[in-house]
Amino acid sequence: MATATLTKSGDVAVIRLEHAPVNALAQGVRQGLKDGIAAANADPTIKAIVVTGEGRAFSAGADITEFRSGPKPPGLGEVIDGMEASGKPVVAALNGLALGGGLEVALGCHYRVATKAASQLGLPEVKIGILPGAGGTQRMPRLIGVEAALDMIVSGNPINAEKAAKVGLVDRVVEGDVVEGAIAFARELVAAGKGPRPISATRIDPASLPKDLFDNKRASIARHPSGPMAAKNCIAAVEAAVGSDYKSGLARERDLFLELAGKPYARALQYAFFAERQVANIPDIGKDVTPREIKTVGILGAGTMGTGIALAFLNAGLPVTVVETNQGALDHGAKRIRDTIDSNVKRGRITEDEGARRIGNLATGLDLKVLTNADLIIEAVFENMALKKEIFAKLDAVAKPGAILASNTSTLDVDQIAAATKRPQDVLGMHFFSPANIMRLLEFVRGKATAKDALASAMAIARRIGKVGVVSGVCFGFIGNRMVEAYLEEVQAMMLEGATPADIDNALESWGLAMGPNAMMDMAGLDVGYRIRQEHKPSEERARFYRVTDAIVEMGRHGQKTGAGMYSYGADRKRQSDPQIEAMFAKEGAAQGRANRKPEAEEIVERCLLRLANEGAQILDEGIALRASDIDTIYLNGYGFPGWRGGPMWQIEEMGLAKVVEKIKGYEARHGARWNVAPLLERLAASGGKLADAGVKG
Ligand code: 3HC
Ligand code: NAI
Repeated sequence: MATATLTKSGDVAVIRLEHAPVNALAQGVRQGLKDGIAAANADPTIKAIVVTGEGRAFSAGADITEFRSGPKPPGLGEVIDGMEASGKPVVAALNGLALGGGLEVALGCHYRVATKAASQLGLPEVKIGILPGAGGTQRMPRLIGVEAALDMIVSGNPINAEKAAKVGLVDRVVEGDVVEGAIAFARELVAAGKGPRPISATRIDPASLPKDLFDNKRASIARHPSGPMAAKNCIAAVEAAVGSDYKSGLARERDLFLELAGKPYARALQYAFFAERQVANIPDIGKDVTPREIKTVGILGAGTMGTGIALAFLNAGLPVTVVETNQGALDHGAKRIRDTIDSNVKRGRITEDEGARRIGNLATGLDLKVLTNADLIIEAVFENMALKKEIFAKLDAVAKPGAILASNTSTLDVDQIAAATKRPQDVLGMHFFSPANIMRLLEFVRGKATAKDALASAMAIARRIGKVGVVSGVCFGFIGNRMVEAYLEEVQAMMLEGATPADIDNALESWGLAMGPNAMMDMAGLDVGYRIRQEHKPSEERARFYRVTDAIVEMGRHGQKTGAGMYSYGADRKRQSDPQIEAMFAKEGAAQGRANRKPEAEEIVERCLLRLANEGAQILDEGIALRASDIDTIYLNGYGFPGWRGGPMWQIEEMGLAKVVEKIKGYEARHGARWNVAPLLERLAASGGKLADAGVKG
């Protein structure tokens, strides 16, 4: 239940925010806090007030689920202002994370005591497309200084208790019981005759600030992950705190907040927040399914992926054994792993001890037998079915009973791989994205025989290594790459119609994508797709679309690694348009009779988006993806799709499915069968249904 309760500890009142699991400030909590402050002030036996949270959090801030229904009184800002006006000193006892409105409550208190274990104190509102709207942009710069406050509010990144003490955000850090510590602190205040200390009463002198501080900050946010609005408004709100009284700064904060709240970018980011939390919800895997324990990990292949995957586990403290076929490849891979850890030490990201621990956790070998004790074995060898089958048959012979056998294949049929073993229930796909130690996304490919507890174990270990894992059924390319196929095909078609590689990338990057498709292919290696097209022959039409790209690969232009691909790359590795490549597309486009209408930026974006989403809808209809939001989570975490655009499925839902179907049919009339509308979209458009209601519930 959402509430705040008041208890007394002698002459100190303790108000506890209660709303499991993270004390989001729902209406009942706000009301409880307001009532608690009033009651404590009315009680003559009370000399000071401590505010704390129940369980592991002080508070994670405003209840984001309430954003959709609209706020009910009392408003958070009003409650905090009322608390700050308390005639008795109010001390926050930060027992755990304090984020957003949670930290704003703490800023409304007159003093702050934190447990040393509190690792997340911050104002992350910008990450969900808004700004701290309960006085945070006004109080934070007054308390810790404008520059530090700007950094925290614009990045949204939290700091830990020790750092918070250094910047003056908290007055005392305690190791023991933080509520006891805050009560003791409050009694010291009373004994010293110190009363309330409202932050809002202070003023910031503009002359104390570096020149151009705000302009420089504005110049740094051109591609902020929250999109073009939120970070800009965060800066303006902090700027409004300078030289003004609290009330007028607060009014400006309110206006800037209202410009963001409920608007498309903010709604998209909030949707993405919940979508990411929904992916772990698998209908037939409930709490009754106990994951197997994973203490040690084996990895086959020390190439690009094997080394990245090894790092992901080592970084999370797990022992890893890497196996290769030859000593040279093994040494090379092991060196890459050690070098990456060393460079993290050199850059100060981890301590020397931690670096040594991680390196000490790495073992290597040339014989599969060294994996006999591994609880999880991930295969990351060449993408070849015969080889993978051979390896899984061998693993079957050496792995211990109950070990989970995973393949990092990016395209191959996991059921066939599983059939090479006598324990298909223990086999699944764990599709990491490159670089595997950095990218958050992981696709789990659930085979038809995969046991529930095997999948649950993979999901649990993924969380431990900080990945966002999404379940996919078996199909070519799974969810992410199957959609990319459709998207890249459209890109090829548009280049034959007259758009240059740079036209395509610039259009999509201006729209918000981290990287356009041509730059992406150059980075991943054009030869990768080429080899896949050699192995799985595409349709005749698709082969025609890829004629130029295949010719580019055959010229030895494999992308960045060979210094040239769709673009040329100078010593600075910056892409440069290449007239030779543009001429090749123009010539082939003319020969195929396609070069008659060069698509403009808006059409480029629309066609890419609709191809992605149309394929996504088909994937959802086939049950390969459980929900549309799972698909979006894949795009946001693995393909550089901007969070403030929500994802391809969110985009078409926002457009309105009837309009989407009409547009797709328009493209079908112009371009033919590759634009066949996904039946699910047609059904939903006809019934007025929504993608959010398709797929599984819960
Ligand atoms: N509102 C509503 N629900 C929230 C929430 C919030 N602010 N924060 C977390 N939750 C929910 C999650 O949806 C999840 O629900 P589920 O169990 O039903 O899926 C549950 O709490 C636990 O959350 P996580 O699974 O994310 O748990 P973690 O321990 O991994 O992370 C966290 C905890 C760091 C608090 C993370 O949830 C988080 O970052 N939350 C959002 C924090 C935030 O953005 N706060 C600002 C809110 S806006 C605001 O305060 C506006 C103000 O300025 C006016
Ligand atoms: P890679 O060519 O860089 O590495 C493969 C490694 O496997 C080589 O070092 C090779 O010596 C080793 N190897 C071959 N046979 C072996 C055997 N029998 N035992 C042990 N080691 C063996 O390839 P990469 O890019 O790392 O890909 C590996 C797998 O990951 C492939 O299935 C690929 O499709 C998949 N994948 C690749 C991604 C990428 O971006 N490169 C992304 C996601 C998945």
